[in-house]
Amino acid sequence: MAKINDNYLKLPGAYLFSTVARKASEFTEAHPEMEIIKMSIGDVTKPLAPAVIEAMHKAVDEMGTAEGFHGYGPEQGYDFLRNSIVEHDYKSRGIDIATDEIFVSDGAKSDCGNIGDIFSQDNKVAVCDPVYPVYVDTNAMAGRAGDFVGEHWSNLYYMPCLAENDFLPRIPTEKVDIIYLCFPNNPTGMTATREQLKPWIEYAKANGAVILYDSAYEAFITEDDVPHSIYEIDGAKEVAIEFRSFSKTAGFTGTRCAYTVVPHDLKIDGTELNSLWNRHQCTKFNGVPYVIQKAAEAVYSEDGQKQTKEAIKYYLENAKIIREALTEAGLTVYGGVNAPYIWAKAPNGMKSWEFFDKILEETGVVTTPGAGFGPSGEGYVRLTAFSTKENTVKAMEKIKSMLK
Ligand code: MLT
Repeated sequence: MAKINDNYLKLPGAYLFSTVARKASEFTEAHPEMEIIKMSIGDVTKPLAPAVIEAMHKAVDEMGTAEGFHGYGPEQGYDFLRNSIVEHDYKSRGIDIATDEIFVSDGAKSDCGNIGDIFSQDNKVAVCDPVYPVYVDTNAMAGRAGDFVGEHWSNLYYMPCLAENDFLPRIPTEKVDIIYLCFPNNPTGMTATREQLKPWIEYAKANGAVILYDSAYEAFITEDDVPHSIYEIDGAKEVAIEFRSFSKTAGFTGTRCAYTVVPHDLKIDGTELNSLWNRHQCTKFNGVPYVIQKAAEAVYSEDGQKQTKEAIKYYLENAKIIREALTEAGLTVYGGVNAPYIWAKAPNGMKSWEFFDKILEETGVVTTPGAGFGPSGEGYVRLTAFSTKENTVKAMEKIKSMLK
């Protein structure tokens, strides 16, 4: 008889954003008269940049010709895109990354989830709390998280990120093997400076640990002392894998394109993780479509850079509107300066889901309850800056009058 992977049965409830989406649609059905404004999942609203669309059209036309047709592409991505990534995202910042250290994929979410395949089950995994749920759930699916007891997975090492610590995790006080870090952070919108990241590299080196560094939101960084890449820190190539995405940087949430960097210097017992990840991708993945990779390449063109940076500026202005409105309404807010997320403390000791329900029922604005990101997220909600400016302003007016 076939047996299921019963680690799946240990997972509590549904995936966070599916639960939020279900609640929002149940509310819409029950209150068709009410306008719903979504500030929950971090999904962009601005259309793709004209330079990206032009490149995509051209690639589609090429695909209709015998000479320009592309079937299976390289599993690691086409060199035209990998070389552009190396040039613009790394060389321009003085970081030496080779083309074959870049693996183009269909999303940072999939890569963050799949990367666990190349690690043994008996690694001790450290996660921030609150945390992007994919890191936790995928380790639970792999049987690496233990059992869900109370609010915690018994075998994960939680690193609470609290207001008193500027939402920075503390270096583990016990030995861990794999450490997930995400800066600018999802969900708190807070970040770490170069100086603050140095001890993590030292810890990883001293303990033979690997850092899984999610920098999907680096395009939103506005402050100079915040690194765009973990490889800006000396020695990081020996201990870290980095995840990047075109989703939030260039509006590719529906188009799907991302990449993961696995440096050759990163070895465990002499084995390069680069060759394991290459083997993984060749076996389980057939590459991102040519048309999409051409679109992603256009992000790095002069027009593409100008246009995508304008979109980032637009979302950061929304973030400012949210920060200012919620502060004016008397809430304590964090994030939103180097990130598209705003982390707001619920008033009067309210719990996350309670505040989520109150906002939804009284204003029609959908947020994400902080508790869904982990026990230390309790008492917070997360709002995203990815709405239109018009809806952001409207939502903030509604929340302000609700809190009056
Ligand atoms: C989020 O809202 O946290 C993100 O959009 C989720 C994701 O990128 O998968």
